[in-house]
Amino acid sequence: MNVLIADKFPDVFIQQLKENNIDISYEPKLGENDLPNSIKGIDCLVVRSTIVNAKTIENSDQLKLIIRAGSGVNNIDINAANQKNVFVSNCPGKNSIAVAELAIGLMISLDRRIPHNVADFKAGKWNKGEYSKAEGLFGKNLAIIGYGAIGKEVAKRALAFGMKIYAKDVFPINDPNVTVFEKFEDVLPIADIITIHLPQNAETKNLFNEKLFALMKKGAIFINTSRAGVVDEEALIKAVKEKNIKAGLDVFAGEPEDKSGNVTSKLQEVDNIYVTHHIGASTEQAQLAVAEETVNIILEYIKTGEIRNC
Ligand code: MLT
Repeated sequence: MNVLIADKFPDVFIQQLKENNIDISYEPKLGENDLPNSIKGIDCLVVRSTIVNAKTIENSDQLKLIIRAGSGVNNIDINAANQKNVFVSNCPGKNSIAVAELAIGLMISLDRRIPHNVADFKAGKWNKGEYSKAEGLFGKNLAIIGYGAIGKEVAKRALAFGMKIYAKDVFPINDPNVTVFEKFEDVLPIADIITIHLPQNAETKNLFNEKLFALMKKGAIFINTSRAGVVDEEALIKAVKEKNIKAGLDVFAGEPEDKSGNVTSKLQEVDNIYVTHHIGASTEQAQLAVAEETVNIILEYIKTGEIRNC
């Protein structure tokens, strides 16, 4: 079995694969445009952020399995994979705690304006009065949109902060700590904080549009650590400017495909929008858990022919 790993992967799990007589090509610097030339002779491709486009899949000659070392599979051309009978698997739930921690971190950062606060200090400015207007999270209404693995981890932490939890999902929610809601009209007008944990698909595309932002309370905190496509960015910018919404985003339209380099986004010009580098899953704990699951998928496939999470 030849496995190409085209993103960073922990050494300990590369060793484990080698000990199981798997041939590993470890090429963490490969990008979307390099992959079509590197895919020949590969049975299994492992990626985190690298985009697997149709050309890569079409150029493959023995590819059977693509594993996303993460939860979402938006960076893989699933149609092309289906057409070539290549299976696509992922690691759901393995990085949920890390993403939930970032969502909570963004809530606190926005309430306390931590990045502004620190930037002023670094610039030699002392603005204690300006930074003494935070509201605090205790007792606040938190709306969790998408109550899957990540949404549940956010809820656990928010409960410990004394927040009141409202949640919405396509699946039934059975949690005595949560007030379930169906209609956005019922909860967005009272939510102090809204956090999104949805996959990107045809139903969720631009779900957070002008109409939903119009329902939100003035000054509400809006967090998106899921996928950029769920939010209409123009509508968000308008809401930030006109309703004093404060936004914390780990994802945005036009995220660079390069692993490092420059970034340009209209969000850079708007105060009160904090954007992080799509680092929700970027804790050592989460990356080890994801890598372990990836290895288990490969070993199980070799042993039984079954593909987990497929
Ligand atoms: C996910 O889908 O789980 C995240 O995008 C993962 C990541 O950034 O690695």
